[in-house]
Amino acid sequence: MNDMHQKIITIERHIIEQERLYPEATGVFSSLLYDIALCAKIIARETTRAGLVDILGLAGKVNIQGEQQMKLDVFANATIVRMNSYTGRLAVMASEESPDIIAIPEEYQKGRYVLVFDPLDGSSNIDVNISIGTIFGIYRRLTLDGPGTLDDCLQAGKNLIAAGYVIYGSSTDMVYSTGQGVHVFTLDPSVGEFLLSHSNICIPDAPKYYSVNQGYQPYWSHGVREFTRWLQGIGENAYTGALSTRYIGSLVADFHRNLMAGGIFYYPADANRPDGKLRLLYEAAPLAYIAEQAGGYASDGRQSILDIKPGYLHQRTPLFIGNRELVEKAAEFIARYDG
Ligand code: AHG
Ligand code: MN
Ligand code: MN
Repeated sequence: MNDMHQKIITIERHIIEQERLYPEATGVFSSLLYDIALCAKIIARETTRAGLVDILGLAGKVNIQGEQQMKLDVFANATIVRMNSYTGRLAVMASEESPDIIAIPEEYQKGRYVLVFDPLDGSSNIDVNISIGTIFGIYRRLTLDGPGTLDDCLQAGKNLIAAGYVIYGSSTDMVYSTGQGVHVFTLDPSVGEFLLSHSNICIPDAPKYYSVNQGYQPYWSHGVREFTRWLQGIGENAYTGALSTRYIGSLVADFHRNLMAGGIFYYPADANRPDGKLRLLYEAAPLAYIAEQAGGYASDGRQSILDIKPGYLHQRTPLFIGNRELVEKAAEFIARYDG
């Protein structure tokens, strides 16, 4: 095999090679991952030409979160639901954009897996051409057969068997892990394939950034304010790492930059949002899985995100995610000042 073929690893080839690590694998799980990559290509096509077709702007509906739905939210959600309903691989789905669990239609076979997802993350950035993304997590169903249930969806992140995200930005990157490291694929639009660009990535030991919406500083707890001062190098025994601040307002993009360059992202609880803003099931937990696979860590300021079992689908959680030393330091300040 000449060198050229050695270098081109499509996501399909990578998924198949990952499958070989699991002797009992049946290929269904691999096909599910490939289905998600296909959804990402379809969504990417719409995001890259969002300015041209009538897909910008508000969909004129409000979602379960009480947030204005963007047309691209609705399109991305419909794409993922449609492409995964008939395959027979899923027992049930749950989406940020759907109030309840998404049942697999009666006429289709039910499968072993559960797909939870945020079809489009960072919606507020769609109309200003800033990177947005899709976040997904995959569980095995807990029930034995028949239609999947809410309990099949309400699993702690430590039960995830795969997770990942897609960033629709200057390039369309898909990042995923099945528990064997974190791998990054970049879409080559000329051939319509995701090609491996980074394998087994690890968050750099030396953090470069901290990401938080400083606009909410007046509402933060004492511990979070002290932690932020520490990060900024203010006061004795402060952090000496000289971090830059970056905040895009798209969780996926903020997380990806910190994963690749080192850093911490946090969206703490505040006086107006006592549980924070981000959702545990399809934002925090899948990214916490990726963070830990890459040598990082994620907590709600007190406990590991992966240990938290959701009580309901759209449960929110404070989120601190990135370099373990910084995430654990945040918890120290919260314990010291907030009790
Ligand atoms: P979504 O578009 O899926 O609702 O997610 C938006 C989230 C997340 O992407 C981002 O980190 C956060 O909202 C930004 O919130 P603020 O504008 O309050 O900073
Ligand atoms: Mn989101
Ligand atoms: Mn969303």
